Amino acid sequence: MTRRTRIAGLGHYLPERLVTNQELEGLMDTSDAWIQERTGIKERHFTADGETCTDMAAQAAKAAIADAGWTTDDVQFVIFATLAPDLFFPGNGVLLQHALGLGEVGAMDIRNQCTGFVYGLSAADGYIRMGTFDRILLVGSERQSPALRLTTEGRDTAVLFGDGAGAMCLEVTDGEANGHVMGHRLHSNGKYARELSVQKPGAANRPWLTKEMIDDGLTNIVMNGREVFRHAITKFPAVILEVLGDHGCKPDDVDLIIPHQANQRITEAVRQRLRLPEEKVYSNIARHGNTTAASIPIAFCEAVQEGRVKRGDLVCLASFGSGFTWAASLLRF
Ligand code: ACO
Repeated sequence: MTRRTRIAGLGHYLPERLVTNQELEGLMDTSDAWIQERTGIKERHFTADGETCTDMAAQAAKAAIADAGWTTDDVQFVIFATLAPDLFFPGNGVLLQHALGLGEVGAMDIRNQCTGFVYGLSAADGYIRMGTFDRILLVGSERQSPALRLTTEGRDTAVLFGDGAGAMCLEVTDGEANGHVMGHRLHSNGKYARELSVQKPGAANRPWLTKEMIDDGLTNIVMNGREVFRHAITKFPAVILEVLGDHGCKPDDVDLIIPHQANQRITEAVRQRLRLPEEKVYSNIARHGNTTAASIPIAFCEAVQEGRVKRGDLVCLASFGSGFTWAASLLRF
């Protein structure tokens, strides 16, 4: 048997509360027109008080497990990607293991921000191909709203991000005949670590956190938007072409590219560089904003529900984000 990984099921969860650009206009000096023109975002979801990243992940995971026809007993390992964990440590993987009432299976956290889901998929694929596990639950979940400064001071990032979760059930399959994950390309360049970051608290400091750090705004998201944009529009297409090239494919061969939903202008620039028609590059950023590690599984799930992708299609997942990191996976769904 040639061990390969197939996507057995998908699920997603979005919090009930919708926050429109008009609502943000009432909180800061911004406008619906500015946000839509610069980012393509119209609305995003925010969690209710007390609704955690793990809670959302559990909802998405339950939907994916049902879609796969699994029960929770089938899950042999958990991989959890997030930049918004409930606790500084331990990671959210163990919290999800407990919330779902799984057996004492392993749980691993991935801290790669926007590329967390693709990095997680590559790890899951490796475990399954090696024979370490037959069935893995991979989740991306982000509760970003509490970290947003919903004021004019924080408007450069506050308008971009939303909350949500997506999950994927991955299982072993035999050989090339069935749908399977084909390969991955992963990159990073830590020279740009501080261009998109939250710098405090951190164990580089003694003590980890002081009132001064908070007062000086060092616990807020810092983003050099232009630098992010400049790198994203070159690295996204480059990594997509790499993973396609590994398998003798061209952009035209792909049925659907599902990019991390960073910003519609970035997605549009990538689409133009790859010379692809609009229907081949999925976008839902208008409705959900940027949900970081959750954006690809949410988008994948919605694309399936909308009939934009079906079994047997060639699908490319691609992401760029904080780190900087960038990554892509190619799969036959
Ligand atoms: N509403 C109104 N005005 C704003 C807002 C806002 N929400 N935010 C910033 N502005 C103002 C700025 O203060 C600035 O004002 P000034 O000219 O008086 O100084 C003006 O708008 C223009 O600001 P710029 O930063 O030059 O705007 P730019 O055209 O570069 O657009 C943006 C900013 C949208 C962030 C852009 O740089 C971008 O798309 N960058 C990519 C960043 C991104 O997508 N990040 C997502 C997270 S990372 C990821 O997922 C890959």
